[in-house]
Amino acid sequence: MQKKDLKGSFILRTIDAILNRKSVRTYTGKPVSDADLKQLLKTAYASPVSMGEYSHLTLTVVTASKWLQKLDQNAQKTFHTDKSMLYGAPLFIIVSTKLQGTPADNGAYSNAATIVENMNIEAVELGLGACHIWGVTTALAQNHELMREIKVPDGQTPVAGLVVGETTEAYTPRNIPMDRINTIKLT
Ligand SMILES: Cc1cc2nc3c(=O)[nH]c(=O)nc-3n(C[C@H](O)[C@H](O)[C@H](O)COP(=O)(O)O)c2cc1C
Repeated sequence: MQKKDLKGSFILRTIDAILNRKSVRTYTGKPVSDADLKQLLKTAYASPVSMGEYSHLTLTVVTASKWLQKLDQNAQKTFHTDKSMLYGAPLFIIVSTKLQGTPADNGAYSNAATIVENMNIEAVELGLGACHIWGVTTALAQNHELMREIKVPDGQTPVAGLVVGETTEAYTPRNIPMDRINTIKLT
């Protein structure tokens, strides 16, 4: 039986948030509340990080339409499209990290992905739409002037991002094919 929270709303189990999650690419544009943003950031700060090196990472919280537009336009130019690559979402959180250009960067990329996915699942639990964003992030990583403008620390590179916002789309149980990812069981 589903539990209810103090306000009487049904509490979504984390497993349901994971199984119902989908990439949402339509947003009403309504700003994400400070309370919801705080909760999303808390799940980022709760993420495991390789060797506990949290100081190697930076989160950039973008809500001002001026910066959302600038980041989107930069990506549109890079990817030669006139379609929004941030989908009109009111919140974009960018994860930057230190990269060394060696195979050890695997850890740095994994840290960023783990942080983004924690926030994505929390967004589902909060009833908000969300989508991992690689395109806008990689376009940003190629524009050092824009990186400076948005205060990405020297020596760090934007590698992952998440858009979040109110949506009219619903999360419903999804069919998850059990052969979706090549899985090898060693005997
Ligand atoms: C690392 C990563 C980067 C992604 N980048 C983008 C992106 O830039 N734009 C986008 O619309 N979707 C992006 N996605 C979403 C994927 O396209 C999506 O997760 C995949 O097609 C499966 O669909 P689902 O999320 O609805 O299950 C990204 C997902 C991941 C994990």
